[in-house]
Amino acid sequence: MKLILHIWRQKNAASAGKMVRYELDKVNEHMSFLEMLDVLNEELTVKGEDPVCFEHDCREGICGCCGFMINGLPHGGFKNTTVCQLHMRHFKDGDELWLEPWRATAFPVLQDLLVDRSAFDRIIAAGGYISVNTGSAPDGNAIPIEKKHADMAMDAAACIGCGACVAACPNASASLFTAAKINHLALLPQGEPERRRRALAMVAQMQHEIFGSCTNIGECEAVCPKGIKLETIARMNRDYMSAAVTYREETTSAGAG
Ligand code: SF4
Ligand code: FES
Repeated sequence: MKLILHIWRQKNAASAGKMVRYELDKVNEHMSFLEMLDVLNEELTVKGEDPVCFEHDCREGICGCCGFMINGLPHGGFKNTTVCQLHMRHFKDGDELWLEPWRATAFPVLQDLLVDRSAFDRIIAAGGYISVNTGSAPDGNAIPIEKKHADMAMDAAACIGCGACVAACPNASASLFTAAKINHLALLPQGEPERRRRALAMVAQMQHEIFGSCTNIGECEAVCPKGIKLETIARMNRDYMSAAVTYREETTSAGAG
């Protein structure tokens, strides 16, 4: 199969980028999308040109490293599929593909298709954990958890932090990611004691990183490779509002005293 690729090439964060056209002949339908780029990079290296820079690790859809726009859609727009899990059988001979990095102020382009997603790390560091004393692992059944809550927490925990939700959102909002990271802890008894503090801190960090606000457009849910639902954002907003009201009441009564 022959493909025509238009790929965003940018030397580093400070330089200007541009689309560059490549023709690639040796593509077969069994390759993954990243293996197809590996073939291109081998050809470029043999010719003495710089290979295309893209991020990857597990290539199994679980680490969240890979991810860029294919023809204007995050991960190519295939349902519940990361770029590394996308196979060339979805394309046909002669197809023309445009590959670009995520576009968001909070995700600056470092090189070619690679962006800096460390803003996500800082949101998690602001509160995406539970505080417990270390020691031997408690018995798995010591804390009963209602099946409905266990399922909802597991669904939220499926978020791999890829950033597709931000790239798809016209506001470049990180609400779906932040909500998933808040919810998978808030829904469990172990996460309950810090639930409100966590929501306040992680939402504040999200705003500090200059992600946009959520206006319920829903593009994030449509492109999320792990099927994270918009309702996680509603639960985050409830936690945040309740925490903000409690905080205001506490500071008002402390001031009155
Ligand atoms: S919510 Fe979905 S699209 Fe957003 S970072 Fe998590 S897995 Fe990726
Ligand atoms: S490389 Fe890990 S999810 Fe794609």
